[in-house]
Amino acid sequence: MKRLDQVLAADGVNAELELVIKDVMVACKDIAYKLGQGELAGILGATEDENVQGETQKMLDVISNDLLKDILVANPYVRGVGSEEEDYTIAGNADGKYLVTFDPLDGSSNIDVNLSVGTIFSVLEAQDNKSGDNQEVFLQNGRKQVAAGYVLYGPSSLLVMTTGNGVNLFTLDTNIGEFVLTKEALQIPEETAEFAINMSNQRFWEPEMKQYIDDCLLGEEGPLGKRYNMRWVASMVAEVHRILIRGGIFMYPYDNRDPSKAGKLRLMYEGNPMSMIVEQAGGASSTGRMDIMDVAPQGIHDRVPVVLGSKNEVAKVVAYHTK
Ligand code: AHG
Ligand code: MN
Ligand code: MN
Repeated sequence: MKRLDQVLAADGVNAELELVIKDVMVACKDIAYKLGQGELAGILGATEDENVQGETQKMLDVISNDLLKDILVANPYVRGVGSEEEDYTIAGNADGKYLVTFDPLDGSSNIDVNLSVGTIFSVLEAQDNKSGDNQEVFLQNGRKQVAAGYVLYGPSSLLVMTTGNGVNLFTLDTNIGEFVLTKEALQIPEETAEFAINMSNQRFWEPEMKQYIDDCLLGEEGPLGKRYNMRWVASMVAEVHRILIRGGIFMYPYDNRDPSKAGKLRLMYEGNPMSMIVEQAGGASSTGRMDIMDVAPQGIHDRVPVVLGSKNEVAKVVAYHTK
């Protein structure tokens, strides 16, 4: 059995980046433990606060955020962090080389019903001398990521990550408290007949997305010529994980519920890291009109329409948007 640190070293990951990833995992192991305690630890339910996006914070959103933030800003190699649950980016060590953005708890509407949630992280290199509390230092496109991953807290806790050299899957061995390699070089099947989208937003979508889903629903008789199945976990980490294992397409497209928002998901700690993982596993990732990792961020909490998963199916959705 290979441990995470052994795999990273074998992949040629430098010691500084390895220590950053290791600290992310120290926090994630703690999050996994706390999620496992649930009601016993009295940490389910909501707080009275809202985050900068106007979402009510769950107690575990705040706890997970604090665990990640505290360990990372104390890491000598981290210049700064950006989080879904923090209005502004936070400075770490001024000499640190790396920037970490994260969604501390993704799918947090699932917490109180004991369903799958996850943590998503992305690592960039600081390109200039700016401090980590200046969000400008973070505003690089997704192609610049040097590492990306997620931890899925499910029946077992899993880490899926890439440093640009394919995607590996690790399982948390709670006996030794380490993530150990359980699958190497994950590849997403190119073809799929399974889509994931929140259908209740249909009336707010653009006509192109409506048309694609209408055609999926027509099955064998429709222009797409196959019978589709549908899944929706309401946790992007769980959806992406399912897609990595058995193929599929996940969409949270642009909708006009709030014209000031380009979609629900956030570019820098949801869209980009998931896109890097999906592309590294042979899948594709698009806004519908361009690759997500080519989108230039204007702010740490920018939103982006997301279409990702099996390559050939993503290409079909892009064709609907660009024809
Ligand atoms: P978060 O819990 O970090 O705010 O993210 C939830 C996201 C994503 O994980 C999921 O795919 C989507 O929101 C679910 O949205 P709906 O509740 O609109 O279905
Ligand atoms: Mn999320
Ligand atoms: Mn979240």
